[in-house]
Amino acid sequence: MELKREIRREPARPQAGTVLWLLGPTSAGKTTLATRVVADLRKKAIPAILFDGDEVRDFFGDGLGFGAESRLRVVSVLVHLANKAAEAGLNVVVAALTAGQDARAHVRANVKNLTIGYVSCSIQGCAQRDPKGLYQKAMRGEIDTLIGFNSAYQPPDDPDLVLDTEAHSLDALAARIVASYAQD
Ligand SMILES: Nc1ncnc2c1ncn2[C@@H]1O[C@H](COP(=O)(O)OP(=O)(O)O)[C@@H](O)[C@H]1O
Ligand SMILES: [Mg+2]
Repeated sequence: MELKREIRREPARPQAGTVLWLLGPTSAGKTTLATRVVADLRKKAIPAILFDGDEVRDFFGDGLGFGAESRLRVVSVLVHLANKAAEAGLNVVVAALTAGQDARAHVRANVKNLTIGYVSCSIQGCAQRDPKGLYQKAMRGEIDTLIGFNSAYQPPDDPDLVLDTEAHSLDALAARIVASYAQD
């Protein structure tokens, strides 16, 4: 076999990648914050990639539901993707509900260079934002699987960072996170 052209590669990057795992209830701001952090890191030429729980459901999750087993499966796929990308030197940001204790334990046990960020917002605040209309659906009884509404949301016991999106602006939170990479 003959290569038509050389595979171009960037100069070697000796640093291992990192994984920032953002967890929190629906509408707390995980996707918004993660998207912004990845964009800001790239502006500083820090290689970064986002993996979102909803993306895993959309692209890999035919038949994935909202029971404990499916939720753990989404987290397992994210853990795998995060590790693979970090191994290649990327700074990974994961945005995923990660509500179950088993899922959190799986993340802690299996992800290297891990920082867990708890994206916090009261359930009342989340329900007021509700960009995907899920709290409205739950209130109308159209879904019964919304954690925080149909069952209690348990905050994580041991997050490395707490990112309170009611107390702080998106700009302030993103700046604080991005600064922590720049110091590395
Ligand atoms: N400080 C903040 N940080 C992040 N999102 C915020 C903040 N304040 C308000 N929001 C809004 O909250 C909503 C969060 O939605 P989203 O990022 O989809 O949440 P999640 O991914 O956690 O379900 C967005 O509409 C966003 O604009
Ligand atoms: Mg999201």
